[in-house]
Amino acid sequence: IPVDPFDLVIFGGTGDLARRKILPGLFRRFCAGQMPDNAHVIGAARTEISEAAYRDMIRDAILEFGGVEKTDEAQLSAFLQNLSYVAIDARGETGWRDLKALMRRKVVRAFYFSVAPSLFGDLAERLNNHGLTDHNSRIVVEKPFGRDLETAQKLNGDLAAFFEESQIYRIDHYLGKETVQNLMAVRFGNMLFEPLWNSQFVDHIQITVAETVGVGGRGEYYDKSGAMRDMVQNHLMQLLCLIAMEPPARFDPDAVRDEKLKVIRALEPVEPHHIVRGQYGADVDDPDEHPDYRTAVDNPKSKTESFIAMKTHIANWRWAATPFYLRTGKRLCARSSEISIVFKDTPHSIFGEEAGRHRNVLSIRLQPNEGIKLGVTIKEPGPGGMRLIDVPLDMTFADALGPEGADNVDAYERLIMDVIRGNQTLFMRGDEVEAAWAWTDPIIEGWTNSNDVPKPYDSHSAGPDASAQLMRRDGREWREVTP
Ligand code: BG6
Repeated sequence: IPVDPFDLVIFGGTGDLARRKILPGLFRRFCAGQMPDNAHVIGAARTEISEAAYRDMIRDAILEFGGVEKTDEAQLSAFLQNLSYVAIDARGETGWRDLKALMRRKVVRAFYFSVAPSLFGDLAERLNNHGLTDHNSRIVVEKPFGRDLETAQKLNGDLAAFFEESQIYRIDHYLGKETVQNLMAVRFGNMLFEPLWNSQFVDHIQITVAETVGVGGRGEYYDKSGAMRDMVQNHLMQLLCLIAMEPPARFDPDAVRDEKLKVIRALEPVEPHHIVRGQYGADVDDPDEHPDYRTAVDNPKSKTESFIAMKTHIANWRWAATPFYLRTGKRLCARSSEISIVFKDTPHSIFGEEAGRHRNVLSIRLQPNEGIKLGVTIKEPGPGGMRLIDVPLDMTFADALGPEGADNVDAYERLIMDVIRGNQTLFMRGDEVEAAWAWTDPIIEGWTNSNDVPKPYDSHSAGPDASAQLMRRDGREWREVTP
């Protein structure tokens, strides 16, 4: 079903995100018939280029990053017909009148701030001063949303000066991933799991987001952030919230976000010895192309982590006795995002000690090969007596649901359509972001004060040995990182 007619302005329209994600995503929605014919997309950036040159740039970007095997030329031309460009100065007055002249009345207006956060306030102010917005307009802002509580509060304040919270869409693209939404469907659409979803039955929960890529060309940004700010404060925190939150009364934006906020506020401070930080070493097979972390960020003394593993607790009735182990890092052995709910042992084994210890594990695989597996214990076939083995009840979506089951809608395109529909459920509210920083800040401050240095780890490994030890100390093991 097409969304309502809209004008979407992308500030930072020539940037990486616009070319790799936003515009190719919009094109795919256009091909899927979800964009109304008269949807109007306007790229805005500082560079003085003609509209024709901008359309050529985006044509190339869509061909390169569109993710379609064979791009339909007629559709691409039709899409580009509705694409305009204005050269605009976020901090000055150039271009704002031109932008106003391009925008239509009586359609949804959305403004995507795909620019450095230091420009958010300037853009918000100018949109307001030039009369470009009304009560129905929306702004979309990208992470990083601040680098600590203070900067996040300042950004929230800058935006709140001109926009209501209901107009602000803070993107965490993990929330746009198909299987992340499936977390809610699995938990709240089935009777089976929810009664067991607590400390009484769950031994521990693991959340792993492993990447094979290094910092690439983003060294300057990344070295000031590290895995804690880049991944844990936002993506892993959101996953943790969806796993741990109480059932919201309705699937509506504030009901869901209220419950997530309660989880973040209930997170206990993390003990320094429950955290392991790491920095990747060079790829021994190709050290020139894939150097070690410090070389990649051009900072020989860097103390920023490209890997982090930690144990944390949620101090509430449901979870007080269940540890949550979080782990994320770059240049690891496989790209794999997975959440595992590891259930407790049965209270008594009628099969005796030799049958071994078997535990049910519910693994929710976010990417790649999205799906859900439940490890169950059965008898090993054959005449050898009652020996037990674990087998998976496997629902890999691509197998269970056919090609349509795989996540073929990119997170960004789903989220942009939600902006136009006016649905904030999958976006972070200001208080959530601030609460996440309030938990993160003391951890980072602790490292600075103690001069903590991350431990080296090999490229293509599962992180520093200390990460495995963090688990073993508790008599537990990380799940294997598999592609
Ligand atoms: C981004 C981080 O938010 O998420 C990157 O800034 C990271 O460092 C990326 O690589 C991971 O996203 P995805 O969708 O590839 O898992």
